Amino acid sequence: MTGMCPFGILARTMGVSIAFANQKGGVGKTTTAANLGAALSELGKSVLLVDFDPQGNLSSAVGADRDKPGVYELIAGDDEASRVIQPTSQDKLTIIPANANLTGANIELVNEQQREFFLNEVLEPLIPRYDYVFIDSPPSLGLLTLNALVAADRVMIPLQCEYFALEGLTQLLKNIKKVQNSFNPDLELYGILFTMFDSRTRLANDVVQEVIGYFGKRVFRTIIPRNVRLSEAPSHGIPVTQYDTDCAGARSYRKLAEEVLQRGEKETR
Ligand SMILES: Nc1ncnc2c1ncn2[C@@H]1O[C@H](COP(=O)(O)OP(=O)(O)O)[C@@H](O)[C@H]1O
Ligand SMILES: [Mg+2]
Repeated sequence: MTGMCPFGILARTMGVSIAFANQKGGVGKTTTAANLGAALSELGKSVLLVDFDPQGNLSSAVGADRDKPGVYELIAGDDEASRVIQPTSQDKLTIIPANANLTGANIELVNEQQREFFLNEVLEPLIPRYDYVFIDSPPSLGLLTLNALVAADRVMIPLQCEYFALEGLTQLLKNIKKVQNSFNPDLELYGILFTMFDSRTRLANDVVQEVIGYFGKRVFRTIIPRNVRLSEAPSHGIPVTQYDTDCAGARSYRKLAEEVLQRGEKETR
């Protein structure tokens, strides 16, 4: 990316923020944020994870201390960024964790002016300092997810390969359109990522074909298989790339990282 830009310094300070969104729970948003982030940082990219789900799964997945101030304290103005960013076991991978206080933020924000822009406001100065800022969002289309979409340059939609996955997708796409029309015209549908793929089922293959037929190149070529290592790693507080470095899950997220980098190069040309 840097090589393509005549202003080397400028290129290094142009980060991109990606929100992981899908109002369905259990589709692989958090798993993808953690492990794609880890795989990109293995390749030398600096990645800031932002846990914007009060459940705090992303924070746990990379072993962050959830008793410390996190993203809630940052948006509430109680703490500065430098005090809420934590390192992880992976070099170049850092996180702003979510603690229980974020649970109440949904309600507190509802009556505030500019309630859609809280996250954007605090992340805007941070994004240029990283290659990637990944925002994980909760399984709903509420105010927290809205804030994530307003703060993001791109949105990645993890999709489980099952029939009902497509029903939720229509609603999600409508919301993305709404955000583009009202709050964040630059928001780009980055892509659909298939997760938990089981090649043995006919349905999984049918769903993949149908979505590719509709979204074409917006579907990531890399498909994340169902792999038990991916579900084990979070309880150890480390990414799968460290937990079992050569398992199918780790390999698939490394492949996705390569695809993300390739896409990035194409987009700057
Ligand atoms: N490819 C996969 N193979 C096996 N288990 C997975 C895979 N991706 C995610 N999981 C597990 O499925 C559950 C839901 O994934 P998660 O990333 O937390 O979804 P979301 O953030 O969308 O709710 C978690 O227990 C996670 O460890
Ligand atoms: Mg999650």
